[in-house]
Amino acid sequence: MPETNDWWRTAVIYQVYPRSFADSTGDGVGDLDGITARLDAIASLGADAVWLSPFYVSPQHDAGYDVADYTDVDPLFGDLASFDRLLARAHELGLRVIVDLVPNHSSSEHPWFRAALAAAPGSPERARYLFRDGRGLVDANGTGDVPPNDWQSVFGGPAWTRVVEADGRPGQWYLHLFDTSQPDFDWSNGEVQAFFLDVLRFWLDRGVDGFRIDVAHGLVKAPGLPDYTPPAGGSMGGDAASAPMWAQPGVHEIYREWRRLVDGYQPPRALVGEAWVQPLSKLANWVRPDELHQTFNFEYLETPWDAAALRAVVDGSLAAFGGVGAPATWVLSNHDVIRHPTRFALVPPPPQGEGLGPRSPHHPDEVVGLRRARAATLFMLALPGSAYLFQGEELGLPEVIDIPDAARQDPTFARTGGASYGRDGARVPIPWTADAPAQGFGPPGAAATGASWLPQPTTWASYARDGQAGVPGSTLELYRAALAARRAHGLGAGALAWLPGDDPHVLAFRSGDVTVVANVGARPVPLPAGEVLVASGPLGEGVIPGDTTVWLLRVE
Ligand code: GLC
Repeated sequence: MPETNDWWRTAVIYQVYPRSFADSTGDGVGDLDGITARLDAIASLGADAVWLSPFYVSPQHDAGYDVADYTDVDPLFGDLASFDRLLARAHELGLRVIVDLVPNHSSSEHPWFRAALAAAPGSPERARYLFRDGRGLVDANGTGDVPPNDWQSVFGGPAWTRVVEADGRPGQWYLHLFDTSQPDFDWSNGEVQAFFLDVLRFWLDRGVDGFRIDVAHGLVKAPGLPDYTPPAGGSMGGDAASAPMWAQPGVHEIYREWRRLVDGYQPPRALVGEAWVQPLSKLANWVRPDELHQTFNFEYLETPWDAAALRAVVDGSLAAFGGVGAPATWVLSNHDVIRHPTRFALVPPPPQGEGLGPRSPHHPDEVVGLRRARAATLFMLALPGSAYLFQGEELGLPEVIDIPDAARQDPTFARTGGASYGRDGARVPIPWTADAPAQGFGPPGAAATGASWLPQPTTWASYARDGQAGVPGSTLELYRAALAARRAHGLGAGALAWLPGDDPHVLAFRSGDVTVVANVGARPVPLPAGEVLVASGPLGEGVIPGDTTVWLLRVE
């Protein structure tokens, strides 16, 4: 592995969603040994690092983002020894490993929350979470029957649940910005702060290269927890400057302390925040020199396939992140959003979290979507900074729409009474081998069971990795070629210079010796003379067809 302290500035980081990557036992859920056995596929793709979504002890009410033990592995995924094996193998292959940290809330099965439920109102046990008396009618317990404020959970329904006190009567309420099973910590509590420093140390001492911080904009709530009505369509915090549960100034002190901790390790480790904060100028506060190293760029992810919008978000990102000395980051897909081949086929796509299902009014065109997705990815991978990929996008996988209601597991689906399908469509186990049980997601040979925790569509066989490997023009080979060329030409560390042009649907820039031309429109445009390095789709004679990006060398 190259010995550098700032590998993260230009890294391509591949997100592994452990439940859905590779299952070594045949129980239908992916696991750490499954990942270890398949890490070479990530290394040979050309990624620099792996980000692992949570694999900690959890009742799995939110696919592991509900943690009951922060320093142990859920038996579903293996144990600490299997984690150590994964880490060692990744390092052997030159891949760095970032693990997910979920500090905004624990599982309701965490020992601290159980202790809080067993303890009395006002106790130190309750003070680690956000317990409050209700409003409304005050009953014999001295607490009202109406939630303490009007906040709604991101997954739908009220953000408060009332507990039953030791005497069997309804009592206080606790805050959960997500599912009922995910109580929010009170981050003004010194015990909570110290606890997470220990959790960080635990994984740092085990050798991880960094952390992805879940809901990094949510830990601190406005004093007094005032009522708040979000604007329609808002979610996850990008909705308003005044939201009392998101982007409160107090979060920054937490990250300054974490930064001091990780900087004490040799080589220093990286912190990336999941902060749904807009505008970019505000998001940049998360990555000031003494805070996190990086933050996801959801404004980029949510930008439509439109030349003017893309140019604006690229300029805005480079200016905002560059202004605080942080690298820009880019991302098109993850486990919370509709996979980008499907998203780019929908104008406009449904809001984040709503998802797609059999009763959605949308009919994405898979061919158009994939063509745009490939062009969008090739454009993204040329941009200076760091890029995040989500498992399966290198196969061009679309969102799975036809998941039966009974199989859906995202709490969003149940909490909205089915009004939002949620995020399961992006989380279906990925296809490795077209004609193997569970499309090769499970173990091979006699151990194969064909089990898969979410049903895999039969149409995915045509996207399976074995059918794409070595096949010119396949999406897998496009990603490989792009990542190799990105590395060879230093694009991650490059400086972008836009090239002039008259066509409003064309984006063209130069970075080092590479010229990038993206035809975001539908009509063919002239192909500049030069050596084609990578193209996202077939080129015509002297033309770049619609929805196609090309990288060129030696353009005059
Ligand atoms: C983050 C995760 C998402 C999870 C939520 C609550 O947004 O990416 O999957 O449901 O936090 O932890």
